[in-house]
Amino acid sequence: MAGNADDARGPLSVQLVAGQKALVTGGNSGIGRATAIALGRAGADVVVNYVAGADEAEQVVAEIRGFGVRSYAHRADVSDEGQVVGMVARMVEEFGTIDIMVANAGLQRDAPTVEMTLAQWQKVIDVNLTGQFLCAREATKEFVRRGVVPEVSRSAGKIICMSSVHQIVPWAGHVNYASSKGGVGMMMETLAQELAPRKIRVNAIAPGAIRTPINKDAWDTPEAETALLRLIPYGRVGDPEDIADAVVAMASDLLDYVVGATLYVDGGMTLFPGFATGG
Ligand code: BGC
Repeated sequence: MAGNADDARGPLSVQLVAGQKALVTGGNSGIGRATAIALGRAGADVVVNYVAGADEAEQVVAEIRGFGVRSYAHRADVSDEGQVVGMVARMVEEFGTIDIMVANAGLQRDAPTVEMTLAQWQKVIDVNLTGQFLCAREATKEFVRRGVVPEVSRSAGKIICMSSVHQIVPWAGHVNYASSKGGVGMMMETLAQELAPRKIRVNAIAPGAIRTPINKDAWDTPEAETALLRLIPYGRVGDPEDIADAVVAMASDLLDYVVGATLYVDGGMTLFPGFATGG
């Protein structure tokens, strides 16, 4: 799966973010893993954050180092303020600064509303929304302190929020998750408006259904995959690399004038596919 995607992506080994310093939260698995690797391949030094799965994180680090850039793994819970502060402080110490913050870590705790516990609600909001806020805030402090370094990038820093089609698509049985991603959309736009004068670019990537552990049940049997494909006009479930490449482009100066945007990378999932034959 990753193999075929890699083969198709030769030209994207262009060093679009050469010399930049990136941090990817939840970089040990799924979309975060592919993103950390893609940023390394594109020339960035990369901190691979994880909260569980130290071995996986070390494997990602090893792969990134293979590109001749620097990388290390850092354990931190993004919903813990002290741990996020410590993580960014260490990065500034080790790499000198941060140029790209990919606030990717996220989880689901699904339940019908009447069965959803406050703990399930709170956990998802804490990690998916508050976690992104804390990471964005700490990165911003360093972006503002350092300002623009024209040899490195036209902007003083980039924050990329990993959102979801559920930023705008309601999702029964997942009110905590959909609310967190709706919140991510507004947080991102507000940060973008506030920080653009400082030359900081804040944007979101909104994946559709991507083959990762978070939604394994939705694609790992032929029946499930067939049902899922009914929601995807482009006719395939996404690969983590589809998202990783979008992140690299968004982080690079190619997209320097993109500020406060949400890029849906979803094979058309947000195009109301039910209306292709109805309505
Ligand atoms: C969710 C997945 C889901 C996809 C499309 C993602 O944000 O994490 O579980 O398959 O949206 O519905």
